[in-house]
Amino acid sequence: MHVLFLGMRIAAPVLFCVCVLTLTGTLLSGMYCEPAPSQLSAGFRFSRALSPIEFDPQAEGVRVNGELLVDSSDCRECHTTVYDNWYASRHRVAFTNELYQESHAREPSVWCVNCHAPFMRPEGDPEISQDRVQVADGISCMVCHVRDNRILTGSRPTPGLDAHGRLLNDIDEQVAREAGASMPTGVLAESDLQASNQTEDESRTYAHEYTVMPVMRSAEFCAECHQFNFLTADSTHTDFRYADLPMQSTYTEWKASDYFDRSTCQSCHLMRDTDDSHAFPGGHAVERLAAVLAVDALLLDEFPDNTSRLIELRVVTLGVGHAFPTGDLFRALKVRLYVPDGSLQREFYLHKLYRSLPVDQQTADRAARTLVRDTVIPPPVGDYASARTEVLDWPRRHLSSIRYELSIEYLDQSNRLTTRLPEDLTRAVIKSGALHIRN
Ligand code: HEC
Ligand code: HEC
Ligand code: HEC
Ligand code: HEC
Ligand code: HEC
Repeated sequence: MHVLFLGMRIAAPVLFCVCVLTLTGTLLSGMYCEPAPSQLSAGFRFSRALSPIEFDPQAEGVRVNGELLVDSSDCRECHTTVYDNWYASRHRVAFTNELYQESHAREPSVWCVNCHAPFMRPEGDPEISQDRVQVADGISCMVCHVRDNRILTGSRPTPGLDAHGRLLNDIDEQVAREAGASMPTGVLAESDLQASNQTEDESRTYAHEYTVMPVMRSAEFCAECHQFNFLTADSTHTDFRYADLPMQSTYTEWKASDYFDRSTCQSCHLMRDTDDSHAFPGGHAVERLAAVLAVDALLLDEFPDNTSRLIELRVVTLGVGHAFPTGDLFRALKVRLYVPDGSLQREFYLHKLYRSLPVDQQTADRAARTLVRDTVIPPPVGDYASARTEVLDWPRRHLSSIRYELSIEYLDQSNRLTTRLPEDLTRAVIKSGALHIRN
């Protein structure tokens, strides 16, 4: 018997506990869930959420002229645009946003926190919330940029430029001086010079001490958190291993798309050196969604009966470098079709649907569920556009006047029944209007 997967990310019943001891530290099976590549794990201490990042802001923060920068708000003074964009982004609210909080309350696992707010004080207990550090900042400046008193960055910056690559003018310089940047003491580590082709300009000094991490320019950096699998059935809320069923696969989708080798996650979402730098728009950026998604229909030469005709409905992405929806497993695009009097005729979802495996098919080292339906818009291949189509019959008398509504849903249907969140937090209308039908 198939049990409906009740809107949970983790296998609810812990059915298999026997293998934990023998398997600990081994057999991290499946795609992209092996321990992180050494450059990443050594430099960033990312672990694909298997453990928190041990970080002590007082001991490890960077200094500008002796002044310790403890948290993200300390970056604002000099990197105002970046800071303000990040502040308005989902990265900042990764731990505090209502959708996360509600779903974490349902499944209070340290695994979630390890990714949504990864800092913990050194030698802390991952289960004790007081041991977590700077959770209100979620995926903060510090999470991506600060370790061992140094700024991690993708390439060696030019000293004396502002963070947008412009020469500091008088006003900028004054601001920087007031903030203490006038006598920067930073240097590049020996090894970092090898990581960059640029020659050092002796007449200028750096605002920070840097460690150059070329991986920050590549999609593999983002994949650390945006590509991971379901946990195995024998994982508990505190002790877990990855199964071979992907839960978020934005990185492999990107690799399969036309954008692989042309644009990285950073080009479309980080937008460095622009006014949008670090805005990280995604599924909550409704205006951008309206610009990259379209709905239309094709009239087919088929007449199921006297009163109706078949149409092929298309939902199209343009310029999305992976599948859509991607990322969170509960995301769905919902298309609703109406006739002129306003009554709803059809609705369907573009999403991935998982169900619990029947108990007799569950094994300790696999996910407790399986993918039963995948109607997301695939990654674009052979063209920068991609589409998902659905064939449906439609009353002939209403063919010229179909109206549609396209919305994004942040909860799956079962969570929708039990949520306490107001509707405007759980879904957003992307666009609506008359459906254009091509012959
Ligand atoms: C006192 C001003 C000041 C503060 C505060 C400051 N920065 Fe900077 N930062 C600069 C300047 C100026 C540069 C340009 C490069 C240089 O001169 O070193 C820079 C460069 C950078 C770069 C490299 C940019 C590139 O071109 O790749 C990163 C990353 C960075 N800062 C991150 C941070 C973070 C994170 C914080 C907070 C923890 C922070 N900065 C706080 C002044 C500051
Ligand atoms: C999710 C990870 C992440 C977060 C969070 C993050 N950054 Fe970055 N940042 C990057 C990456 C990746 C780059 C690009 C490195 C490259 O291309 O060389 C970058 C580039 C930069 C640059 C240089 C480019 C530019 O557009 O100015 C600055 C300055 C910077 N970050 C500062 C910050 C500050 C300040 C914060 C917090 C307000 C922050 N970053 C938060 C990952 C992050
Ligand atoms: C060619 C541009 C492009 C590239 C490359 C790209 N994206 Fe996107 N991505 C988009 C667009 C466009 C959207 C739709 C929302 C928006 O406009 O910001 C989107 C949406 C998303 C979303 C929200 C999806 C949802 O279902 O709500 C996430 C998460 C995301 N991208 C992460 C990534 C990651 C991680 C990478 C790299 C592996 C990446 N993107 C590469 C363009 C791109
Ligand atoms: C340390 C983990 C981590 C890293 C590294 C990371 N992210 Fe994220 N990212 C998250 C989490 C967690 C969220 C979900 C925030 C939330 O709860 O809404 C997120 C959200 C996003 C969103 C918004 C999705 C939406 O639907 O609104 C985009 C876009 C995104 N990340 C892009 C990137 C890109 C591009 C990179 C690489 C430069 C990156 N992320 C690196 C953890 C990370
Ligand atoms: C390895 C990293 C990782 C782990 C572990 C993880 N998440 Fe996420 N989560 C993400 C990323 C990345 C996104 C953003 C993808 C997107 O927006 O489509 C996300 C998105 C979400 C969202 C949607 C938030 C929004 O703004 O719409 C919720 C809710 C959520 N996660 C809850 C959880 C819970 C609960 C757990 C533990 C059971 C968990 N996550 C475990 C990385 C992770």
